[in-house]
Amino acid sequence: MEKINYKLKKRTNEIEIPQNLGFGKVFTDHMFVMDYNENKGWHNPLIKPVENLSLHPATMFFHYGQGIFEGLKAFKTIDGEPVIFRPEDHIKRFNNSARRLCIPEVDPDFLLNAIVELISLEKDWLPSKKGEAIYIRPFIFGTDPFLGVKPSSTYKLIVMLSPVGAYYAEGFKPVKILVQNDFVRAVRKGMGECKYPGNYAASLLAQEEAHEKGFTQVLWLDGIEQKYIEEVGTMNIFIRFKDEIATPELSGSILPGVTRISVLKILNEWGMNATERLISIDEVLAEYDKGNVLEIFGTGTAAIISSVGLLNYKDRDLTFGKDEPGELAIKLFNEITAIQYGEKEDSYGWLTYVEKLKESV
Ligand SMILES: Cc1ncc(COP(=O)(O)O)c(C=O)c1O
Repeated sequence: MEKINYKLKKRTNEIEIPQNLGFGKVFTDHMFVMDYNENKGWHNPLIKPVENLSLHPATMFFHYGQGIFEGLKAFKTIDGEPVIFRPEDHIKRFNNSARRLCIPEVDPDFLLNAIVELISLEKDWLPSKKGEAIYIRPFIFGTDPFLGVKPSSTYKLIVMLSPVGAYYAEGFKPVKILVQNDFVRAVRKGMGECKYPGNYAASLLAQEEAHEKGFTQVLWLDGIEQKYIEEVGTMNIFIRFKDEIATPELSGSILPGVTRISVLKILNEWGMNATERLISIDEVLAEYDKGNVLEIFGTGTAAIISSVGLLNYKDRDLTFGKDEPGELAIKLFNEITAIQYGEKEDSYGWLTYVEKLKESV
């Protein structure tokens, strides 16, 4: 693979990270870009200033949606070290999404090194307050200027960085979730397990309707029977029953979350009964009525853990925790964030230390 080239911006003054970062509104100065064609494969890797793209109006991605993305985070540890949380797992999922969309895969080690280079270059953008991070957004899209339906023969890969605060405006407060009954997000053997832009476009109308009714997010049911719970907005979901913490099994329509497998690992380590299985919404209602549903929480890179305070299904409200996050949700949030910010030993080996990896290459 070629060496990364650099075309860097001259910094004239100190970087000032805005106080109120929000999510995905602020971007760092540089991005990583790389091109693909059939002769050269992935080539011309370059770190350069963030700038607008110039694309032909027939660019295939605009018309037929052949694109994928990822979302992972870098943190500043309490010792001031930039670290990335489980980048290998995100890159693996990126390549799984690529295969499903006929997009050429990327050498995982090369992409990891490119992300590490970019974070190292932009490390002054790393906010240091707990809850804040740099959100890393790699994406690929088909660039042939062609209106026929076929896989593109050329692609562009970009990695951009966005310093972020807490995902939900409410902070770590319980969220209100509407169980979606009118639309479906994805079906088995479709694209649900890929990080594919169309899945997010498919979710917008339901999300807008949920927001209008005062809910934070939507809980999707399976696309065939609308019987089994799948995932929430941009999170996987866990139900804490009396004797079991269950999450929907990966059926092909659910995104296999990196936070999801981290939570399963921690729960197993804590000796708790964590299961992956089909969970019907009727089971949740029946067990709630018996007092057996203790808490519900979502897991995802953006919010890490998000406690559910209210779940609405067909005009029925299930409530949890009287406006306070669930006990297990808090414990998991504290455990994962303690690892991410280097407050606790990374016994699972989930962190990539940016400067250490750079030195070893
Ligand atoms: C649809 C969907 N489900 C689940 C997740 C959680 O995945 P992860 O924990 O890897 O962020 C995300 C976020 O990436 C998502 O977009």
